[in-house]
Amino acid sequence: MTPAPNLDTIKEAQSRLQGVIHNTPLRTTRSGPLPQGTELRLKPENLQVTGSFKIRGAYNKVASLVEQSHRTGKPLLGVVTASSGNHGQAVAWAARHFGLAARIVVPETAPKAKTEAITGYGATVECCGTTSQARLDRAKAIAEEDGFIFVPPYDDDYVMSGQGTIGLEILTEWPEVDVVLVPIGGGGLISGIATAIKAVNPDVRVVGVEALGAPKAFRSRTEGRRIVLDETDTIADGIKTLSLGHLTYPIVEALVDRLVTVSDEAIMDAMRWLLFRHKLLVEPSGAATVAAVMGNRDHLFGSQRIAAVLSGGNMDPSLLRSML
Ligand SMILES: Cc1ncc(COP(=O)(O)O)c(C=O)c1O
Repeated sequence: MTPAPNLDTIKEAQSRLQGVIHNTPLRTTRSGPLPQGTELRLKPENLQVTGSFKIRGAYNKVASLVEQSHRTGKPLLGVVTASSGNHGQAVAWAARHFGLAARIVVPETAPKAKTEAITGYGATVECCGTTSQARLDRAKAIAEEDGFIFVPPYDDDYVMSGQGTIGLEILTEWPEVDVVLVPIGGGGLISGIATAIKAVNPDVRVVGVEALGAPKAFRSRTEGRRIVLDETDTIADGIKTLSLGHLTYPIVEALVDRLVTVSDEAIMDAMRWLLFRHKLLVEPSGAATVAAVMGNRDHLFGSQRIAAVLSGGNMDPSLLRSML
């Protein structure tokens, strides 16, 4: 058997998630500034529990820790992670589901709306520094001090397998799909989805979408090694990552057919189109895939049937105002 994530671990995640998360059926669209003849279907994970796909991986990981604790008799004291965003909310939600304590380390600059969402799910928020490294170090220290288990945002087999359930859902609902577009941050989402898709139908192409101001996968592919960017600059906070993970990089290299970048302006246009034409409030990272479809038909292998993952819908009111 190939190492995780694989089709078996993704199906296992699917049974864990059954009845826990929302169905997010594909939405068909032929309207708007799409290339001629394109049939675009949207996977609206902005309507998912906690407002993003992140619940799939976080829940699968936390559920597996609970199962392990039952199996071994070793108590699970709680979970910890470092994220002010969608992953933090998802871990908080999953922990509450299992009655576990959760501590989420966020930057001192974290918007109130986000920390309130996390505490609303019952987790404890701790502010630490302004860099992702400072938060990560603090989360790992908490794991040591309190005996809590660290839940990684993307570089983890259970997390990637959970995200991969999106790939199975798309193929089940639309077996004729030619291309699936997926945004890339640390690469957990696309690693899971590409693994599922290539295992079921290797002819379906998987295209990764990055912000022009955070092109870590694109540059890694061009240079033939895992690149760590010096800095990033984009409104798309979920995909504003300096590098792919150690686990996700080789999966992206092996399974993702094409990597494209989109500008912040194109993302904003896509957000407005999704809101006004489809009544879908999608955050910048989630709208990047639609920006890629609208922007350039060459990305898409001349394909007719395209599925775009709208990965989340959580955003600050100030961003919404500037978008409008
Ligand atoms: C809305 C949204 N889309 C995409 C991503 C990227 O996911 P990954 O880091 O698994 O590549 C994230 C990550 O936080 C996100 O919040």
